[in-house]
Amino acid sequence: MSLIELEHVHRTFRRPDGTVVYAVHDVSLTVADGTTVAIIGESGSGKSTLGRLVLGLLTPDSGRVAFEGKTLSTLSAEEIRRQRARIGVVFQEPFEQLNPRLKVGAIVEEPLIIHAPNLKAEERRQRVSALLQEVDLDPQIAARYPQALSGGQQQRVGIARALIMQPSLVVLDEPTSSLDLSVRAQILNLFGRLKQARGLTYMFISHDITTVEYFSDHVVVLYLGRVVEQGPTAKVLRQPRHPYTQALLSARLSVDPSVSPPHLPLTGDPPSPTRLVSGCPLVGRCPIETPECARAPIALQTKDEDHRVACLRA
Ligand SMILES: Nc1ncnc2c1ncn2[C@@H]1O[C@H](COP(=O)(O)OP(=O)(O)O)[C@@H](O)[C@H]1O
Ligand SMILES: [Mg+2]
Repeated sequence: MSLIELEHVHRTFRRPDGTVVYAVHDVSLTVADGTTVAIIGESGSGKSTLGRLVLGLLTPDSGRVAFEGKTLSTLSAEEIRRQRARIGVVFQEPFEQLNPRLKVGAIVEEPLIIHAPNLKAEERRQRVSALLQEVDLDPQIAARYPQALSGGQQQRVGIARALIMQPSLVVLDEPTSSLDLSVRAQILNLFGRLKQARGLTYMFISHDITTVEYFSDHVVVLYLGRVVEQGPTAKVLRQPRHPYTQALLSARLSVDPSVSPPHLPLTGDPPSPTRLVSGCPLVGRCPIETPECARAPIALQTKDEDHRVACLRA
């Protein structure tokens, strides 16, 4: 079953000067129950916007976002509230998502007060305590303020808060990018363990290819808000077909002697996200482009089984 389904989703933003940013453009994808789907792409490619659309924090300009088979735009306010409790989120900066005026226990407990008002205080405290232990924190930490904790501890508190409503899906938006390398590995292990124990589904937003390779089942590559390639992690990262994916991976792959995809450096600068290109978004930078590439939108084509690429020349 697919837990998340996006169909032809568009989302723009209007900047203060009136120009329009095409942040997510005609994106269709599904996330199957129990899998980890990584969203990769450079900064500004629309990854966080995609995550916020899935979380229901942003609404699409057009297209459809469905969670557990229900289209978000058709739900009542009450249904949306309940739905939101079923999706957790962990952001990059642990400290920014933790209210500095609340103690850790209250931070983790807060969603229960909002979404499960009938629960007794003692039951809430027990759940918070059990969850703190599950993320490898001493339950005593509940009495402390987040600013007294290390970055790794803060991120564990953020994870506990994300899980308190027992979500089926967790959106992880660069959850380890601001952490030290040693802590990063511990947090990734924790995500792996929690996924196993709770049968979680992850939407894992990252620009760290090594982590994505280790952590995800499927990869979706975004460029200028569009999906240019998607498929099983092994195929997309080991046999990238789109020139953009190849360029994105080439730096890392050059240090791995077991794989040697064609090295195709991109030329030119990334185009502005405020310009709506009619053909392939890579035109002007692509080493193998033809005049045809600029003419019309290029749909994702299936290459083998579930490996799909939006390139006329792949
Ligand atoms: N609230 C906003 N207002 C205006 N532009 C935005 C807003 N949020 C995102 N953008 C723009 O949308 C594009 C995609 O942003 P984002 O989804 O944050 O990318 P990523 O997470 O891949 O770095 C960028 O060009 C960004 O500047
Ligand atoms: Mg982002």
